[in-house]
Amino acid sequence: MKKQIITGVLFAFSAALLVPSANAAVDEAAAKALAKSSDCFKCHAADKDKKGPSLKKIAAKYKGKADGEEKVLKFMTSAPMVKLDDGKEDKHAVVDSKDAAALKNLAGWILSQ
Ligand code: HEC
Repeated sequence: MKKQIITGVLFAFSAALLVPSANAAVDEAAAKALAKSSDCFKCHAADKDKKGPSLKKIAAKYKGKADGEEKVLKFMTSAPMVKLDDGKEDKHAVVDSKDAAALKNLAGWILSQ
């Protein structure tokens, strides 16, 4: 009997420990570092438009959409054609990483702006 209680308590405790890491919070420092090394901040800033829209605008466009993260991920890895502020069309920049977790973290960070 006692053993069952202890097992139950241990189970609940480890479940509580596991839940936060299952939907881990965004690692802001890592996301910023990756955006910086990928030159994203040349054209994007948190809340003002540069050559590209502000991250806040991007987040607002996709926030709450079921496929938002997927769309952002695709956009920053597939080099779609975009129109720059001088009217020229060019391929959009690609994130300088092939690490799925790092890419997902960056997309999550952008969407959290
Ligand atoms: C040369 C300038 C430039 C650089 C560098 C750049 N972007 Fe962009 N980005 C743009 C422009 C312009 C748009 C708007 C495209 C549009 O709406 O057609 C855009 C749009 C986006 C969007 C939103 C797409 C949408 O559907 O609204 C995301 C996400 C994005 N950029 C992420 C990034 C990331 C991540 C990086 C770094 C790897 C990056 N950008 C680097 C110019 C740039």
